[in-house]
Amino acid sequence: MTEIPKPLAQVAEDVLRTADGRAKTALSRKYAAAWQAARATGATPPIGTATPPDQPARPDAPALLDPRDVPRRKPGTPEGRIAILHAVAHIELNAVDLHWDLIARFATTPMPIGFYDDWVKAADEESKHFNLMCDCLEAQGSHYGALPAHAGMWRAAEDTATDFMGRLAVVPMVLEARGLDVTPGMIRIFQQAKDAQAIDALNVIYTEEVHHVAYGSKWFHFLCGRDGLDPTPQFHALVRRYFHSSLKPPFNEEKRAEAGLPPDFYWPLADSPAR
Ligand SMILES: [Fe+2]
Ligand SMILES: [Fe+2]
Repeated sequence: MTEIPKPLAQVAEDVLRTADGRAKTALSRKYAAAWQAARATGATPPIGTATPPDQPARPDAPALLDPRDVPRRKPGTPEGRIAILHAVAHIELNAVDLHWDLIARFATTPMPIGFYDDWVKAADEESKHFNLMCDCLEAQGSHYGALPAHAGMWRAAEDTATDFMGRLAVVPMVLEARGLDVTPGMIRIFQQAKDAQAIDALNVIYTEEVHHVAYGSKWFHFLCGRDGLDPTPQFHALVRRYFHSSLKPPFNEEKRAEAGLPPDFYWPLADSPAR
């Protein structure tokens, strides 16, 4: 593996400025492997600084629509299942950019090297997830870009562009935690369809997403500890400030616990706080 060619924040910016999905994930995985190879030798490569774009580069397709305008399809049909895979591919591509953006945008906040190890690993895994979803779509004669996708997925990044702790609260600890709640239902849809490729891919995603939520919780608590803040009220205040709806039960309490998210973090923010 070649050495990491420049400081990590600039590597992150390169990924953000690459538009094509497969090209973005190939670059992301190449840089992640270079980082991990350097770290395996005991090196601590420089983080540096970067000027990440306000919005990451994206391919011409899919067309991005307001969520209300994205056509809904029945999950029990082949078209419905392709729509699910396409929606997950879109989420994963967004996640690749979210993780590299977090590295690039907050590079001036000093953090232990282990923080970067975690985020590079998460970005690498999101890249794998996008590729897995594209493989599933292509096996069914479709591809990423064949359907419209949700606009506004970058909203959380824009809302927290100047608030590192807010970014950790909203992205891994709310949005990625939501993925833990909904993925088992998705896996059941593909089990009913006996689609082994999609089941395997979604199981990889489900397993690895627990770690991404855990990284969020770990480093959120680290920052609270460093600043002398009480994590639970701090989390509630940041989610209320930056996340524009309530959280939707049912929650996957087991996987959330595994990821370091206790019930008193999310239940007070739920649709109906009473349990
Ligand atoms: Fe993912
Ligand atoms: Fe993730």
